[in-house]
Amino acid sequence: MKRIAILTSGGDAPGMNAAIRAVTRTGIAAQVEIWGIRDGYTGLLTGEMSRLGTRDVAGIIERGGTILGSARCHEFLTEEGRLKSLDNLLSRGIEGLIVVGGNGSQAGAGLISQLGFPVVGIASTIDNDLVGSEITIGVDTAMNTVLDAIDRIKTTASSHHRAFLVEVMGRDCGYLALMTGIAGGAEVIAIPEAETHPEEIAKELRAAYDRGKKFAIAVIAEGIKYKATEIAEYFMEHRERIGFDLRVTCLGHIQRGGSPSAFDRLLATRFGAAALEAILMGRYGVLVGLIKGEVALTPLMEVSKKKKPLDTSLLALSHILSR
Ligand code: F6P
Repeated sequence: MKRIAILTSGGDAPGMNAAIRAVTRTGIAAQVEIWGIRDGYTGLLTGEMSRLGTRDVAGIIERGGTILGSARCHEFLTEEGRLKSLDNLLSRGIEGLIVVGGNGSQAGAGLISQLGFPVVGIASTIDNDLVGSEITIGVDTAMNTVLDAIDRIKTTASSHHRAFLVEVMGRDCGYLALMTGIAGGAEVIAIPEAETHPEEIAKELRAAYDRGKKFAIAVIAEGIKYKATEIAEYFMEHRERIGFDLRVTCLGHIQRGGSPSAFDRLLATRFGAAALEAILMGRYGVLVGLIKGEVALTPLMEVSKKKKPLDTSLLALSHILSR
């Protein structure tokens, strides 16, 4: 293989640049041309791609986001769109493709692979909901960003003896909320994998005050049934009975920004080098991820068919720890 392309797709994640750098530099070291595709599958469709040199990826390991740009591309979902994409690769003499992204992006990678084109995925999403990797690029940085926010909220919550609701990302997966809730010492954690009614949140927060706490924090995942605004409205409606107000902070896209942590830089670097090696060794149609602490390859078809389980027993542990 003499020419391989790389794209970053879906929600960006801190560490994507480290993966681009690793693919580019290990590729060039193996005498392979690396081409960067702009804005994910959109650039694949429009043919926006160019060769990357070692200097093009200089000074990016410490930068969040992706120098290639990212997008959520609906046209790629059509057969016509995919055939056009394939044509754009073949007409440029590109023989392999590396896709850095989460669930939707790897489903797309699986579809190109089904057309018989060599594709390797790299597990990257702050949601950590990807089968084939116990941890994905961006999760560690996002968790630290959330924790920094929780720690700051605790400062003001403590001064005013207030209760706070902190909403974190994760789409329909509760990983980010569960882990940051535990690491941030939250009194309540609500995740999509275990339904929680606003009344339960109120009861748990009330119980924390009754145990002598001067403030209380609930961390909720964005994917739970009740939105943060609905929970806040519920508290307002029942203000007298519940006995305290609830302040709401939705962290939003702040969680996807910032400089990648050492862990994410190293993970992305290992994944990038492994993806290049896999594609050159003829191991196509796979996702590069981390399994039992080791870099491992999982067939893309398995990745898109299964849902990653979350260890909800940690919820019970969080209850004990927040006493
Ligand atoms: O998949 C990453 C993620 O940040 C999710 O946690 C979130 O639900 C979604 O992307 C937001 O997507 P967008 O940036 O397109 O609004």
